[in-house]
Amino acid sequence: PDRYAVAGHPVEHSQSPFIHAEFARQTGQSVDYGRLLCPLDAFATTVRAFAADHSAGPVRGCNVTVPFKFEAFELAARRTPRAERAQAANTLRFDRDDEGGWLADNTDGVGLVRDIERNAGMALAGRRVLLIGAGGAAAGALGPLLEAQPSSLVVANRTLSKAQTLVARHADVAAATTLSAITPDQAGAGFDVVINATASSLQGADIPVDARVLAPGALALDMMYGPAAKGFLAWAEAHGASGRDGLGMLVEQAAEAFFVWRGVRPETSPVLAALRARLA
Ligand code: ATR
Repeated sequence: PDRYAVAGHPVEHSQSPFIHAEFARQTGQSVDYGRLLCPLDAFATTVRAFAADHSAGPVRGCNVTVPFKFEAFELAARRTPRAERAQAANTLRFDRDDEGGWLADNTDGVGLVRDIERNAGMALAGRRVLLIGAGGAAAGALGPLLEAQPSSLVVANRTLSKAQTLVARHADVAAATTLSAITPDQAGAGFDVVINATASSLQGADIPVDARVLAPGALALDMMYGPAAKGFLAWAEAHGASGRDGLGMLVEQAAEAFFVWRGVRPETSPVLAALRARLA
């Protein structure tokens, strides 16, 4: 089989091996997808060694998760436009063993947009969107969100300068959208879609925005899933919004990575259903 892995720290709870095994089964592709735990100070050497070890089959690529998405982007000699825009990569394709032959891509944002539009049934065109956070997760999402042409998109972040930098880097894709940067306390009211891309829940912090950001019936999506998403989803539903965790995004970004590697698009809905059943 062709070999892949998810590289991160930690990786033991990653659902990516399950998702890619399902995609491989469904499409009849010969793929072996494992986990690659990288020491915090040794991402590059660990991935290089993985890429060069063909003893169990050719190694074709890896996904990259926290905290290495920026390093992965820096490492690869070639980058897709969407990875350039995000300045972060969640997918590496090894067209050769050494990083001179690596392609860095970012499938997180398209995964998010597909989950919102197809799985949650909310067309983004003409909507008012609030993106909370300006770290790696938000950076991957912003370009694809703008391509879906919402009427306005506000990036709200505790550190305003980070939101401003992110917004400035996307000014040229924002043609159809009023794009702005703000702090969470000044986010305003009445958004159709509210996306939490902060790590605040992991630190047990409060929801960083006031509930008036939620329009009646808004979609409120947390990029996290499991216990880390619970607080945000409960808050959203208590204020009349429809809560959605990050599992759909996880499956959709994986499907896009599978396509980048294999040229085949797996069907995501049965895999998302299987994943929800597995984690229930
Ligand atoms: P990731 O790759 O998961 O996005 P990151 O790059 O460290 O991780 O970004 C974390 C995001 O969560 C940032 O937007 C961060 O805000 P700052 O830029 O102000 O640091 C946000 N964040 C983390 N803890 C937070 C908290 N307690 N309250 C509000 N925002 C928080």
